Amino acid sequence: MSGGRKERAVKTNDFETMYVAGLQEAEALAMTVAEGLTELYPSADDPELRETLRAHAIDARANAIRLKSLLNCHGRLLDADVDGSVDALFALARHSMATTERGPLRDMALISLVQRIEHHEIAIYGTLAAYAKVLGRQDEKVTLGAILEEDRATDEDLTAIASRLAVPVPMAAVDRSLGVVAA
Ligand SMILES: [Fe+2]
Repeated sequence: MSGGRKERAVKTNDFETMYVAGLQEAEALAMTVAEGLTELYPSADDPELRETLRAHAIDARANAIRLKSLLNCHGRLLDADVDGSVDALFALARHSMATTERGPLRDMALISLVQRIEHHEIAIYGTLAAYAKVLGRQDEKVTLGAILEEDRATDEDLTAIASRLAVPVPMAAVDRSLGVVAA
């Protein structure tokens, strides 16, 4: 290593390098989720949903720090891929919040978009935990598994809130939101 420099080029035929690239993507994703949820949670009308999103924004920020400390053990990669799919989902959520009225229907739309983001995170953390196991990095597998379980728990909480909100929505409101015109 020259001059203490830790960056290195991506070599996709190197499994450990692929794992580190995934950790970098996950760190960036965690920061995107933290910032996105911090921006969006005040839009939630339901107090439980608002608190769930606020608390998960804090979790995501803490997870970015945990991932950063894992990366400090490996060194960062040059030219690692950037996953823009969650940015697109947050853009969709912002648009949805800006174009619908505050209330249960908008909360359900918000839950739907945040759950898509959580499912994306669950896929990434699940893969990275499996990679850490294969690489014999037990401590890192435990950390990644803990993050994975947080996301699964949040996903389940959101499902429960959506189920509660869905019950009292009057059909007239559904028709209006879908642009359905009564015959
Ligand atoms: Fe999450």
